[in-house]
Amino acid sequence: MFTYLSGSEAATEALAERLSRTLKGNEVIALFGDLGAGKTAFTRGLARGFGIQDGVSSPTFALVHEYEGKVPLYHFDMYRINSYDDLYSTGFFDYMDNGVMIIEWSENIETFLPEKRITVRIRTLSETQREITIEGAEKLEDFSD
Ligand SMILES: Nc1ncnc2c1ncn2[C@@H]1O[C@H](COP(=O)(O)OP(=O)(O)O)[C@@H](O)[C@H]1O
Ligand SMILES: [Mg+2]
Repeated sequence: MFTYLSGSEAATEALAERLSRTLKGNEVIALFGDLGAGKTAFTRGLARGFGIQDGVSSPTFALVHEYEGKVPLYHFDMYRINSYDDLYSTGFFDYMDNGVMIIEWSENIETFLPEKRITVRIRTLSETQREITIEGAEKLEDFSD
């Protein structure tokens, strides 16, 4: 486990970009954190690490956005999902192992997440300060800034 203090949106994006460089391409990344914590910012940085420059935004209505980068990236927003049937109907389980999945509002589907995953918790400390804890990303520590 690894804890990082971010002082800006750019720093959060940079951390995620660093994480992207340690991935093989089939990981599940579960994001936890309140509204405005920086889950979408984190996803944007990860996407940039895969060479995806298109506007990354919360897929609140679409539930999932798909991006084609060095590896396929599937960006979920589980804000409105609160049952297994809802989750199943997003096609969630079909995406597994076909790319990197990154999931906002993982709180809502926690019991259905695979055991093997990377967990990212973002806690808002102040307007610009975030405490970001990353669990399950074994190689991240080797990639310093
Ligand atoms: N250290 C930081 N990391 C990430 N976002 C930050 C930080 N400081 C301020 N912000 C602001 O917080 C907001 C985060 O928004 P967003 O990524 O959409 O959050 P979420 O997807 O968790 O709701 C943005 O307006 C961003 O500019
Ligand atoms: Mg968001």
